[in-house]
Amino acid sequence: MTLEEAKAKLEKYGQMQVLKYYDELDDAQKAALLAQIDATDMSIQANCKHQEELGKRGVITPLDCMEISEIEENKAEFDKVGLDAIKQGKVAALLLAGGMGTRLGSDNPKGMYNVGKTRELYIFECLFNNMKDVTDRAGAPIHIYIMTSEKNNDATVAFFKEKNFFGYPEDHVHFFMQEMAAATDYEGRIYLEEKGRMATSPNGNGGWFISLVNAGLLDSVHEYGIEWFNVFAVDNVLQRIADPVFVGATIARNCTVGAKVVRKAAPDEKVGVICLEDGKPSIVEYYDLTEELMNAKNEKGDPAYNFGVILNYLFKTEQLERILNGALPLHIVEKKIPCLDENGNLFKPESPNGYKYENLVLDMIHQCDSCLPFEVAREKEFAPIKNKTGVDSVESAQALLEKNGVVL
Ligand code: UTP
Repeated sequence: MTLEEAKAKLEKYGQMQVLKYYDELDDAQKAALLAQIDATDMSIQANCKHQEELGKRGVITPLDCMEISEIEENKAEFDKVGLDAIKQGKVAALLLAGGMGTRLGSDNPKGMYNVGKTRELYIFECLFNNMKDVTDRAGAPIHIYIMTSEKNNDATVAFFKEKNFFGYPEDHVHFFMQEMAAATDYEGRIYLEEKGRMATSPNGNGGWFISLVNAGLLDSVHEYGIEWFNVFAVDNVLQRIADPVFVGATIARNCTVGAKVVRKAAPDEKVGVICLEDGKPSIVEYYDLTEELMNAKNEKGDPAYNFGVILNYLFKTEQLERILNGALPLHIVEKKIPCLDENGNLFKPESPNGYKYENLVLDMIHQCDSCLPFEVAREKEFAPIKNKTGVDSVESAQALLEKNGVVL
């Protein structure tokens, strides 16, 4: 892209501030900035001015959940179906590790955080240990795909190499990077993070499958015969990975996606709730759950929207390929964005100073034909690490790990 073309694009989107320091740059920096301007989709930033139009929802109705009692009754059958699929290499794990983990506030990728007390025990290691429980039973490793972003890829890959992949076969671990999106101030103006570089952040976890395809990995998925992807977040150290009972139940119920859910602790708990929207599976965020829905009861007299997602899903590959080109809704999220101040010096804010633009994996559920919500016990499978202290923190996760017999 030439400077003239860049100016025309920036003018069209009201982003001329991006060239503020252009004349100070050397030739390589100028070329890099022009290439970044060329590659950046600037149409999405305009959405921050009319956010109310983004979240229009359809008609919400309840979706029945497979509760723990029903799972227990059928456990042996589901376990067999799931374990067979795993043994046949039909199930892969997919770790979403492209996020910035700003709330935890560590400079390293979140998975490198040591949750041990008397020994080293990293978040990545907890997850691999959980996965190994299953692969040891199956007698064969499964493929694991790890999504990173340009911000944390090198550190993540180097860490896995340094730790010798926690004893897992390296040829079954595949890294790929997600796409980035420009970050802005509250008016939608793109920040600079260097004089020759726009501030960018990972574009949310919803683009994981398209990023995997763009990274050229789909051929390997077909070659390995992967029919299911267990997609999960980096920060829940207790979650079960490629859980045979979950896999078996989703297959047995002929669903194209399964979602692990926990029973809500209170009607107003801040979790995304599984439901039907216009007759299709969906997740309604807690802030979209009206008072009426919050207190609605089903025919058994139980709360009708009582199960929250924990970001552990099982997607059928066939379904993913069918929805590949479907656009996901945009989420505009207030975050702390490192950027240049008015004097051109790097500034790391202590509190949010603008917006990131994200697609979310939870919106993929609404694109799927059928979903099995699968209840798990919160105290056994849900210990997310979002914050340093308090709710969903290192401390709360450590307590839950110890409760489940993990030596820290
Ligand atoms: P979070 O919603 O906790 O976001 O991600 P985050 O960016 O990691 O953390 P904060 O909000 O800045 O503190 C949930 C999961 O989705 C992944 C994260 O790595 C985590 O596993 N994720 C998030 C991505 O893979 N890419 C993204 O762009 C965002």
